[in-house]
Amino acid sequence: MTAVRVKDRDGADKTVDADDGALLMEALRDAGCGIEGTCGGAMSCGTCHVYVADAWVAKLPPKSEDETMMLEALADFVPLKPGSRLSCQISLNGRLEGLEVEIAPQA
Ligand code: FES
Repeated sequence: MTAVRVKDRDGADKTVDADDGALLMEALRDAGCGIEGTCGGAMSCGTCHVYVADAWVAKLPPKSEDETMMLEALADFVPLKPGSRLSCQISLNGRLEGLEVEIAPQA
């Protein structure tokens, strides 16, 4: 299990325990954090947008070109931050124990 620290859209903090190998999007969606994941991870909906805490940004795999393009499309609707990521592109594992994310506003 990997514990992820989450700040929801109301500013409340919670810890989500996810199976190793699960997508962060799935863990946040299943824990009722307000993530929809409508496209199932195909990088076409943007409903899984999170802000990764600064200390964790460099510890994640880099964004693909497709992820970057989807995030840029979201920028017309919601603020982007240096830690903006699509949570469907983050696979959880023990190295991410304690990962901190904030749920981004809905587009
Ligand atoms: S689930 Fe649709 S972009 Fe991530």
